[in-house]
Amino acid sequence: MSEQDPNARLRPDLDEEMNVAETHAVFEGATAATIRERRLHENGMEPVPLWLFLCAGISLLVGGAVLGKGGALFNYGQDSMWANEWTEDTSGGPEEITEGEVLPFFVKQGAKTYGKCAGCHGADGKGDGANYPPLAGSEWVTGENTEALGMIILNGLSGPIEVAGKTWNSVMPAQGPISAKDLAPLMTYLRNGLNDVGDVVTVEMAQKAVDAYEARGPGKTVTAAELQGGHMNLLSGEAMDPTTIIDFETYQPVGNAGGN
Ligand code: HEC
Repeated sequence: MSEQDPNARLRPDLDEEMNVAETHAVFEGATAATIRERRLHENGMEPVPLWLFLCAGISLLVGGAVLGKGGALFNYGQDSMWANEWTEDTSGGPEEITEGEVLPFFVKQGAKTYGKCAGCHGADGKGDGANYPPLAGSEWVTGENTEALGMIILNGLSGPIEVAGKTWNSVMPAQGPISAKDLAPLMTYLRNGLNDVGDVVTVEMAQKAVDAYEARGPGKTVTAAELQGGHMNLLSGEAMDPTTIIDFETYQPVGNAGGN
């Protein structure tokens, strides 16, 4: 269009840069300034270019990675809300439980040591009905004779023995040495996992059994007759209420730093 023609912009049909909004403005009798303003505004409404989309996408990825790594860029420090959430995630597991009631804990721990016995007496403690006598329902396990029970376990047993109305006559190899800390939960498991006696064999009591085993000397199995001749007693030591809260490290009542 010609510079000389002052009416050029008033003839939209001749305008190469024909623009609908501008044209309307011209017909509305708008001033040149208004037209320019509208054109600028219209430029702002242009579709977002592809490069801007790419930049936004990259920013999201980079930003996400930085935050996801725990805030290398945004270091909020120890007392920030995010930092606390982060540490809570790793600290709140069941492994954190360090104390609880003695009976269920001993039964759980004793069940692990019972793996030594399960091959012969069965996982359920019912024996096999032929070569290995039952521990579930056995008066040797449930009776007030933990001393004899401890000796059978640690020293082994040979010769005839009556269990739940049936006579067995075989040999059980010695299972000692077993530490008092393992023997207490094992005996508690025999009496409360395989049976339902309701009492706890403490580490202190189990230590008495270990002492007797060591004094007697390994390699000498006991017989039922020998046990019945003077060992049908409870292992000595202070009884522990089954609901006593103990420390899962020391196996001692919580707050009893001295131990037994
Ligand atoms: C190699 C097989 C074997 C293993 C392992 C074994 N026992 Fe025995 N156990 C026997 C036999 C056989 C007898 C019967 C012995 C006899 O007739 O004199 C017996 C008897 C007993 C008795 C007395 C009788 C009864 O049934 O109550 C107890 C208690 C006992 N075992 C507990 C245990 C415990 C606890 C363990 C694991 C620490 C264990 N045994 C591991 C074979 C085994």
